[in-house]
Amino acid sequence: MPGISIRNVTKRFGDLVAANNISLEIEKGEFFTLLGPSGCGKTTLLRCIAGFLDHEGGQILFGDRRVDGIPTHKRGVGMVFQNYAVFPHLSVQDNVKYGLKARRVPAREQAERASQALALVRLEGLEDRLPNQLSGGQLQRVAIARALVIEPEVLLMDEPLSNLDAKLRVEMRGEIRLLQQKMGITTIYVTHDQEEALSISDRIAVMEYGIVRQVGKPWEVYVQPGDAFVAGFIGTTNMFDSEIKTSEGGLAIAQCGGVSFGLSRSDGVAQGSQIQIALRPEAITIRDIEEPVPDGHWVLEGEIIRFEYLGSMIKYEVGFSENVTLLVVSYDAEPAKIKNVGQRVKLSYPIERAKTFRKDRPQ
Ligand SMILES: Nc1ncnc2c1ncn2[C@@H]1O[C@H](COP(=O)(O)OP(=O)(O)O)[C@@H](O)[C@H]1O
Ligand SMILES: [Mg+2]
Repeated sequence: MPGISIRNVTKRFGDLVAANNISLEIEKGEFFTLLGPSGCGKTTLLRCIAGFLDHEGGQILFGDRRVDGIPTHKRGVGMVFQNYAVFPHLSVQDNVKYGLKARRVPAREQAERASQALALVRLEGLEDRLPNQLSGGQLQRVAIARALVIEPEVLLMDEPLSNLDAKLRVEMRGEIRLLQQKMGITTIYVTHDQEEALSISDRIAVMEYGIVRQVGKPWEVYVQPGDAFVAGFIGTTNMFDSEIKTSEGGLAIAQCGGVSFGLSRSDGVAQGSQIQIALRPEAITIRDIEEPVPDGHWVLEGEIIRFEYLGSMIKYEVGFSENVTLLVVSYDAEPAKIKNVGQRVKLSYPIERAKTFRKDRPQ
């Protein structure tokens, strides 16, 4: 299985730059995800890699083989789409054999390979069914078997789970990941669903407006977002505009609506800078007013505005002066420890968990 190199790939539709000088190195056997909001260019980039679209400038390589200009059917790609794209008039088995027929594989081998691929996606026994006799999850398995049966060098999947209901989506993403690991096939997966991306990927490229904002392992893009867009797009986060008031020693202090926030100076913030602060709800601990706080934490005092009890966790909205509120997630959901609406509480967070992004510098 080769890796994939994407070097300075650009694709325009008229004036619109759908993929803007994108470079990515995807390792052999890696499960690599393109993540971003609708319209950011994920499908465009995937279609360039598959050969359905011609890009302008740049190069695309599978291993050290340049595939630019080579037609799709000669690139050795297996594709899975959101809308299944299975042929309604062909049985499950004939759908899976389709790519083999087109490649003039002998009939006996076709049958063998189709049944192996169907076993991989756990569809044994359904070979003779027609697509309208299958559930959404089963249809998507047919599509995956059909992509894999041609023994592609790379597997490309464009939002393959978007049409499934929430529970099945979670189940199927686990299955896709297992299958990919079992086969060790280099995979590029497209989704707009950040949780899906975090759960399924070795690495993620976060995209916005045709640009790759950040590439990293799931926990890297979550804990160390490179810019305000990534911080806001992945997971839930408290975000607010603020100004640095003091910056001394290891600590900077920013103010927002009369509330002071302690920040780590290693983020390189100077006094007077206009910044955005991103603070994850689970980085904040909620305490009774008199409780002690560990070293290295910044402390705030506020009042519980409302809370949502969710069994394994509680979501609190805590208010401060001038309409500043923070969302806090507590996994300490023991009934005796639940705070009440109107109660004064102490919040604390390790200062390095508050991320700062400069506003006066283009992100
Ligand atoms: N064939 C096309 N002609 C013109 N504009 C297109 C075409 N395909 C996509 N676009 C535009 O390119 C941008 C990126 O689209 P797309 O790659 O489909 O985004 P995503 O898959 O991330 O939702 C969007 O603004 C979209 O409207
Ligand atoms: Mg798309």
